[in-house]
Amino acid sequence: MKILITGGAGFIGSALVRFLMGSQLARVVNVDALTYAGNLEALPGLDDDPGYHFEHVDIGDRAAVERVFRVHKPDAVMHLAAESHVDRSILGPEAFVQTNVVGTQNLLEVAREYWQGLADQPDQRQQSPRERFRFHHISTDEVFGDLPLDAPAFTETTPYAPSSPYAASKAASDHLVRAWHRTYGLPVVITNCSNNYGPYQFPEKLIPLMILNAAAGKPLPVYGDGGQIRDWLHVEDHAKALWTVLQHGEVGETYNIGGDAERTNLDVVHTICDLLTELRPMAEDVRRQTNLETNTPTHYRNLIQSVTDRPGHDRRYAIDSRRIQRELGWRPRHTFESGLRKTVQWYLEHTEWVNRVQSGEYRQWLEQNYASR
Ligand code: NAD
Ligand code: DAU
Repeated sequence: MKILITGGAGFIGSALVRFLMGSQLARVVNVDALTYAGNLEALPGLDDDPGYHFEHVDIGDRAAVERVFRVHKPDAVMHLAAESHVDRSILGPEAFVQTNVVGTQNLLEVAREYWQGLADQPDQRQQSPRERFRFHHISTDEVFGDLPLDAPAFTETTPYAPSSPYAASKAASDHLVRAWHRTYGLPVVITNCSNNYGPYQFPEKLIPLMILNAAAGKPLPVYGDGGQIRDWLHVEDHAKALWTVLQHGEVGETYNIGGDAERTNLDVVHTICDLLTELRPMAEDVRRQTNLETNTPTHYRNLIQSVTDRPGHDRRYAIDSRRIQRELGWRPRHTFESGLRKTVQWYLEHTEWVNRVQSGEYRQWLEQNYASR
């Protein structure tokens, strides 16, 4: 099977590529524009692999995307390319509409023409065009909006109510994918997943930002009261869920993916602080800055600072993933505790990657986002 993965140089896309290539499950064509969030260093050792091909292409560029389909003739598309950071969408929504909405529409149109063309081509396996192609759209639980504390978790039928420009752009792209299935018959599957964490996540997101700031003795900026709840899933569990849905999911259907691990942001930050105390006790000079005598977990916790809340901040997300578990047999392997420990260790061990990612652009972003908080 040859799979065209968009956004394969990003956090989740690269985990998916590493999983597929590492287990020799498929050949991969990685289509990525390499924005600030894309980094080919997350894909070590693949350059010389004949089963892997990289295409430096923006999904909004129709001619370039058409060429990629013509040259590579994929059996499936797994569409992850997106602008993905909520805070960036608040400060500059245009790029989100451009990539997440217009880019997805462009990809859908090229995929539709390609898929319709399959009907004219012979197939040794005697499969119909519907069986010969899949368009898998990777989306988020944020499309469902703010979940009251006492409400049951999001199911596949929860109505959409996005809050941020990012969530609205993802909701729009989900609707486009559904429309291309209903109107044109394009064989699609959609997945909506909760918050991911793990290696190679860009340190603008909560978990890597907190690990790296704490390790450097810098403030840990918690938005508002830190009582917002997210449901966390290790990225390797997400990659396996995506592969399961691509292979066995029913065409036209949606599957929710989550880790059954609801935590408040403050809980997450406290756990990171405590893991760091165990794995990398605070350096003497940093400890002195926090004005404390002994090395207890409270040391890193002293770096926590409450800052101005995110506008429109959703209080809670929670995913009910019983459908994918029951119908497709997928289950997360990591508990939040085991996955977070592995992740903290990974960031402590990969200082070179971290140093390279913390470029000028990244420092500029930190100044812009946190200056007014
Ligand atoms: P990311 O920001 O780490 O990576 C996005 C990738 O897309 C980057 O490699 C970037 O270069 C590429 N890209 C951006 N614009 C592009 C364009 N116009 N053309 C081609 N490539 C482009 O994102 P992520 O966290 O890996 O998320 C991947 C997908 O999963 C997104 O669609 C996101 O909405 C969804 N998702 C993310 C999470 C999460 O917790 N991170 C949870 C659920 C769903
Ligand atoms: O729910 C899935 C979504 O999870 C994905 O669709 C998004 O692509 C992904 O970025 C993530 O969105 P969040 O907004 O939940 O993730 P983020 O890491 O930005 O923030 C997690 C929580 O932590 C959120 O409540 C805001 C808070 N936060 C975040 C940052 C960066 C802070 O308190 N301080 C911070 O500095």
